[in-house]
Amino acid sequence: MTKTQIKAKKEEVEPEILVFCCNWCSYAGADLAGVSRFQYPPNIRIIRVMCSGRVDPSFILRAFKDGVDGVLISGCHIGDCHYISGNEYTRKRFEKLHKVIIEQLGIDPRRIRLEWISASEGKQFADLIKDFTNEIKKLGLVKQYYLV
Ligand code: FES
Repeated sequence: MTKTQIKAKKEEVEPEILVFCCNWCSYAGADLAGVSRFQYPPNIRIIRVMCSGRVDPSFILRAFKDGVDGVLISGCHIGDCHYISGNEYTRKRFEKLHKVIIEQLGIDPRRIRLEWISASEGKQFADLIKDFTNEIKKLGLVKQYYLV
């Protein structure tokens, strides 16, 4: 490896992305991506929750405070939530979080995303992770947000 290659490798942006997956659909979709050997960037850390509705906005703010570069919340498609309407609450909460909290706190709203992935959508999961990781790479790394 030449000095130029080493320098280029050091300067490569490698974001840390937190992914909340609901147990019943999205986590199974992520698992399917794995067993199907669909490649996606290794920048994500998955947290499995029983339902996307379990993802409290404070979890997201805490993640940014701790220096995470992007947060993805993923749940069952609307109408498929195993707790009937958990993902509808998630969608409403997410809209409020985007409009009020994220913009007022100066966090780029593109750093947080809500997507629906079913258990059979392993390929879509892998594509989503690729797409989100590329977007976060373009935005660059965040150090830490100083939230009170
Ligand atoms: Fe998947 Fe509620 S169980 S979003």
